[in-house]
Amino acid sequence: MVPRPIAFVSAVNASGVRNLAPFSFFTAVSSDPAVLCFSAGLRGADAKKHTLVNVEQTGEFVVNVVTEALAEAMNLTAGEYPPDVDEFGVAGLTAVPATVVKAPRVAESPVSFECKLRQVIPVGNARLVLGDVVCVHADDTMVSDFKIEPDQLQAVGRMGGNSYTRTRDVFDMLRPK
Ligand SMILES: Cc1cc2nc3c(=O)[nH]c(=O)nc-3n(C[C@H](O)[C@H](O)[C@H](O)COP(=O)(O)O)c2cc1C
Repeated sequence: MVPRPIAFVSAVNASGVRNLAPFSFFTAVSSDPAVLCFSAGLRGADAKKHTLVNVEQTGEFVVNVVTEALAEAMNLTAGEYPPDVDEFGVAGLTAVPATVVKAPRVAESPVSFECKLRQVIPVGNARLVLGDVVCVHADDTMVSDFKIEPDQLQAVGRMGGNSYTRTRDVFDMLRPK
């Protein structure tokens, strides 16, 4: 399925170590209440990725939007690091406190969604994580008439494997009445 948006998920473990990782099995589920989801595959038979462990431990996480400027840093966080490694440090990104949840958000990301865990649904060799969006951060320069301006955002999508796409080639269509 291409292109896929990328959830750049920040979370903390029970000891407060900060974690960051990208998830492109990611979409919105409901607008009222605002709910999003991402899917974390298991490592091997049943080993959980750190993001999933942290989200289950704390019940909270932040989804940060990946822009062109953030793409390389995002890619660095996809490596497998020991659980005590602060992946904000690995990626050279700035952690700023979120408003509602304990997990920090990524300062360099212009749009972030603070989430409280709604449900983890086991699906095959993955775990689908549903989160209620409890706070949205959007850089003022990205917003016009209460809407995010995609041209300003310059989000990137995943095309599978190591390939990505920009979101600059936009066209409009009127819907039939
Ligand atoms: C762009 C991109 C998208 C990814 N999407 C997913 C995904 O949807 N699900 C998944 O389990 N892993 C995905 N990965 C791999 C995880 O990011 C990777 O396993 C990471 O090490 C998990 O980190 P964690 O153990 O700190 O949670 C993706 C990697 C990249 C680079």
